[in-house]
Amino acid sequence: MKKSLLLAAAVLAFSCQQKPAEEAPKTETPPAPVEKKEEAISDKGIGPITEVKLGPIDQALAKKGKEIFDSKCASCHKFEEKYVGPPLKGVTQRRKPEWIMNMILNPSEMVQKDPIAKGYLAEYPTQMPFQNVSQEDARAILEYLRSVDEGK
Ligand code: HEC
Repeated sequence: MKKSLLLAAAVLAFSCQQKPAEEAPKTETPPAPVEKKEEAISDKGIGPITEVKLGPIDQALAKKGKEIFDSKCASCHKFEEKYVGPPLKGVTQRRKPEWIMNMILNPSEMVQKDPIAKGYLAEYPTQMPFQNVSQEDARAILEYLRSVDEGK
């Protein structure tokens, strides 16, 4: 009896302490306004890449990316026209860099769960396979795609 009373008291004390702590931030700091501008283009996709920082185009990296693209991607992708996969011209303007890298690194989950990638299933009977590229390779390919889109 004593024990359970003590326990009840402890629980009560605990929940009393918790309440103000939970409510305090709500009243003191209103949530920061969310930047929605970029989010409207597309999201970041699903996969290992959560943030990519872009600088001016790195030509050496783009060149490496072109070599990987030519050997692992060109069999299904052209830039100007539909092929086995969608045309890639302008892809760096349509999609966030994170989305593009996640598509390269994690295509099967992307096609199952990402709203944009899912949409391709009806149009393209072949599903994009993982091409055994590392994150570094995917980053190089992204640089190549950027260089094509920016005409550099
Ligand atoms: C066997 C064919 C095939 C290969 C190889 C392939 N893809 Fe794809 N890719 C597709 C298909 C098909 C889609 C559309 C999504 C789907 O249905 O899987 C796609 C979608 C994409 C998209 C999304 C395009 C957009 O506009 O949203 C990107 C980016 C992409 N692929 C890049 C690559 C890169 C980079 C490689 C090489 C590492 C590659 N793909 C290799 C078939 C392929």
